[in-house]
Amino acid sequence: MATSTSKDQQHAALAARYGSELPPECGPWNETIAALLSHRSVRKYLPKPLPDNTVTTLAAAAQSAATSSNLQTWSLIAVTDPALKARLSAVAAGQKHIIECPLFLVWVADLSRLRRVGEQKQQQLAALNYLEMLLVATIDAALAAQNAVVAAESLGLSTVYIGALRNDTQRVAAELNLPEGAVGVFGLCVGYADHSVPAEVKPRLPQSVVVHRDQYDVAGEPARLDIYDQDLAEFSRRNELSVSNWTNRVIARTKELRAMAGRDKLAVALRALGFPLS
Ligand SMILES: Cc1cc2nc3c(=O)[nH]c(=O)nc-3n(C[C@H](O)[C@H](O)[C@H](O)COP(=O)(O)O)c2cc1C
Repeated sequence: MATSTSKDQQHAALAARYGSELPPECGPWNETIAALLSHRSVRKYLPKPLPDNTVTTLAAAAQSAATSSNLQTWSLIAVTDPALKARLSAVAAGQKHIIECPLFLVWVADLSRLRRVGEQKQQQLAALNYLEMLLVATIDAALAAQNAVVAAESLGLSTVYIGALRNDTQRVAAELNLPEGAVGVFGLCVGYADHSVPAEVKPRLPQSVVVHRDQYDVAGEPARLDIYDQDLAEFSRRNELSVSNWTNRVIARTKELRAMAGRDKLAVALRALGFPLS
């Protein structure tokens, strides 16, 4: 009985994640995987305070992520000041969940700490000038943040990432007093979801499109994308203000540079923030 219940739950979780196109068979399963599959972004928060020391718990989860060469090239700014959140929301095209959530985390790709080590030890750290090191720091920050997301969701909290902070990285750096060699790569709203607003699990592309065995294979992709478009349009109808499917969203987001909302100038901004990108 217990086994069939957990099989039912597994099937329901996969159906929510993949819509019409279930993976043929799922392997091992447990509560951690069930929790990961139930992730959804939340853009409406209750004005309810977080438990004491939530930042400490989320930061410990974040710092437990793997980090390239143990360099730990990221930092976290926990923002709770309403006026500062409002100014950061303005950078991010006025996304109001940044103002409404009790805690806004800014994840910083941070080479400045390594620079300070170099200065203190009077060493030229040549590699810090290279694009590779910014990638390292950005990957580190993303892995750390995702650990915090999983931790938050396990505590009954909800989150949404805010990439729109990169609309103006220099303004974010000024607002947060970031040193040279540090850039806010994305934000994260944290809070209790207002369940009066729908926030369903959003279906993902079928595994047949994303997961390849030994060799990359695009056979069958157009037909699978058609099915996914239908699923996502239905999701969009139920959950979002404007109805759109996936391919339309890809085009809307990437056809015109205007859609980059300032991020087309990111390389210039990064150089100004102390990343030569050699
Ligand atoms: C790096 C990153 C940046 C994002 N930026 C934003 C954002 O600025 N605003 C927003 O509402 N959602 C943002 N999202 C959330 C995505 O839209 C969301 O994860 C995606 O639509 C899938 O939905 P789900 O998280 O509910 O599964 C971002 C997600 C990531 C990973």
